[in-house]
Amino acid sequence: MKSYDIARIPGDGIGQEVTPAACAVLEAVGKRHGIVFRWRPFDWSCARLKAEGAMMPQDGISQLSGMDAILLGAVGFPGVADHESLWGLLIPLRRGLQQYVNLRPVRLMPGIQSPLVGRSGADIDFLIVRENSEGEYSDIGGRFADGTPAEAAFQTSVFTRAATDRIMRYAFDLAGKRSAKHVTSATKSNGMKHTMPFWDERFAAISAEYPDIATSQYHIDILTAHFVSHPDWFDVVVASNLFGDILSDLGPAIAGSIGIAPSANINPERDYPSMFEPVHGSAPDIAGKGIANPVAAIWSGAMMLDHLGEKDAASDVEAAMEKALLRSDCLTPDLGGPADTKGMTRAVLDNLSGSGAA
Ligand code: NAD
Ligand code: IPM
Ligand code: MN
Repeated sequence: MKSYDIARIPGDGIGQEVTPAACAVLEAVGKRHGIVFRWRPFDWSCARLKAEGAMMPQDGISQLSGMDAILLGAVGFPGVADHESLWGLLIPLRRGLQQYVNLRPVRLMPGIQSPLVGRSGADIDFLIVRENSEGEYSDIGGRFADGTPAEAAFQTSVFTRAATDRIMRYAFDLAGKRSAKHVTSATKSNGMKHTMPFWDERFAAISAEYPDIATSQYHIDILTAHFVSHPDWFDVVVASNLFGDILSDLGPAIAGSIGIAPSANINPERDYPSMFEPVHGSAPDIAGKGIANPVAAIWSGAMMLDHLGEKDAASDVEAAMEKALLRSDCLTPDLGGPADTKGMTRAVLDNLSGSGAA
C-alpha cells in the first residue's frame, strides 16, 4: 500500500467544483491500485484574502515543501484584482517550488468535435512546454509619474541562459520519447530586439545537442495561425512564459474546449513537489452553477499519478475519462452536452468501478 501526501487547494470559482471531482476519481483509482491519498486541504483563495488579508500564509511555500504533490483548482475571482490574487498565490507557488516546466498536453479526444472541419485525433496531439519561472512574467518594473501626462508603466522580461536552456532541454528530451521527434520553438525575434534573438540562439545551441530531433521555429503571430490551419505539424512546442500561456488556451480550443485541458507544473529535479491544475481559470460566468467540465481537473490528476510513478493508475484514469467523453449524454455544456459536473464525474467513476476502465 503506497501513500502520498497531497496538498489540495481548490482555490476560487469552479476550482471548488472541479477539484472534488478530481479527488473522487483519484480515490477510486487509488482503491484499485492500493494507493492511499492523504489529502491536506488548504483554503488559500480570494475568500481567504478578503477574510485574512492574504491569499496564503507567509510560510505557505514551506507548508507545501514536504508534500508529494499539489492539486490546485483555480485562482482569481472578480472583487480582487487579478494581479493581486495571482501574484499572491499561483505565481509564487510555481516559482518558490521551482516548477519551471509547465507541461500542457493538447489532444483531440475520440468523441469530441474539433471546431476545425475534418480534423481527427491523428491531427491534434501535441505537447506545449511552457517556461514557467521567468520571461515576460516578471516583477521587475513599476509605474511612474502617476496621474501626470508623463505617466508610464514598465515591465522587464527576464530570459536567463540557465532557465532558457533547461526548458529547451526538457522539450527535446520529451520529444526524444515520442514518435514524431520534433520540437517547434515559438519566437518573436523580429519585433523583440533582445530577448527573442537570445531565445533563438539558445534554441539553435540546444538543438545541436539533439541531432535526431527535427526542429521548426515560427514567430508567435504566424504560429497561432498554424495551430488552426496545420495542427498536425506539431509534436512538442517550446515557448516562453507568455507565449506558452497564449498557445495553451488556443490548443484546447481546437481540441474542443478549455474545459478538458490539463497541466503539470513540474520541478523535474524533484527537490520540491510538482503541482497539477487545469489550464482554465475560475470561470466566474459559470461558477456555482454546477456545470463546469471536470475533465481538465481529472486529467490533471492523471498527470499527477504519472509524475508519482503510478503509471497504471494514470492510464486507468485516462482510459475512464476517454470512455466517458465518448458518451454524448455525459458531456458538459462547453462540449455541447446536457450533463453537469456531477454527471460527467459519475461517468468517469462508473468506468473505473466497472469490469475495467478501457
Ligand atoms: P477562464 O478559463 O476562467 O474562463 C474562460 C471561459 O472558459 C469562460 O467562459 C468559462 O466559463 C469557460 N470555462 C473555463 N473552464 C471551464 C470548465 N472547466 N468548464 C466549462 N467552461 C469552462 O478564464 P478567464 O475568464 O480569463 O479568467 C477568470 C479568472 O480565472 C481570472 O481571475 C483569471 O485571472 C483566473 N485564471 C486563473 C487560472 C489558474 O488558476 N491557473 C487560469 C486562467 C485564469
Ligand atoms: C494559466 C493562467 C495564469 C498564467 C494566470 C492566471 C496568471 O492563465 O495558468 O494559464 O498566465 O500562468
Ligand atoms: Mn492561461
